Amino acid sequence: METRFAKESRCYKTARVFPTDVNNHNTLFGGKLMAYIDDIASIAASKHCRASVVTASTDSVDFLLPIQTTDSVCLESYVTWTGRSSMEVFVKVITEDLQNGERAIAATAFLTFVALDEHKKTVQVPQVVPETEEEQRLHETALYRAEVRRHRREESKKFADYLITKFPWE
Ligand SMILES: CC(C)(COP(=O)(O)OP(=O)(O)OC[C@H]1O[C@@H](n2cnc3c(N)ncnc32)[C@H](O)[C@@H]1OP(=O)(O)O)[C@@H](O)C(=O)NCCC(=O)NCCS
Repeated sequence: METRFAKESRCYKTARVFPTDVNNHNTLFGGKLMAYIDDIASIAASKHCRASVVTASTDSVDFLLPIQTTDSVCLESYVTWTGRSSMEVFVKVITEDLQNGERAIAATAFLTFVALDEHKKTVQVPQVVPETEEEQRLHETALYRAEVRRHRREESKKFADYLITKFPWE
């Protein structure tokens, strides 16, 4: 089985917080950060498998601290665990106060991407090999998260079965 180091998928993105990016508290709008998260995570997944990928689920996004307009926001992302065609991707959001240099972890997220071939069929991805302490820790705890995802997916399917698609005006 082909393997690839977690570091081979690692990528970074840094942005300023512009006036058009904020909410009514004058801190970064959560939807904007979620778009950054999905964007960078999809790049990490693509770098890992070098195939077409789709977001299967955003498993968790934890907003730990508000992001101020004086902060820069830096996202780091890499593949932490692989199944057959699925990849768990971690995103770490680090803010830096541009006036005093203080850094903090403002958010963390886990997403699952699935690799597809040109016929939109799922394809096997290389197995990820963690190296650093952080990569190893996230890799070791991934089986538990995969089990939670599997259970939640089953529940979501059951839930979708009884949701209606009719609009109120119809
Ligand atoms: C994701 C998708 C390709 C899975 O297709 P599927 O026919 O259900 O495929 P399978 O059941 O064979 O699952 C394939 C893999 O995806 C994983 N998977 C599927 N749905 C998942 C979910 N909701 N969460 C986590 N993993 C999921 C499975 O565990 C499996 O992993 P493995 O190959 O590592 O064992 C399909 O559901 C899809 O196309 N969804 C829409 C994706 C999309 O459009 N994303 C953008 C949203 S705007």
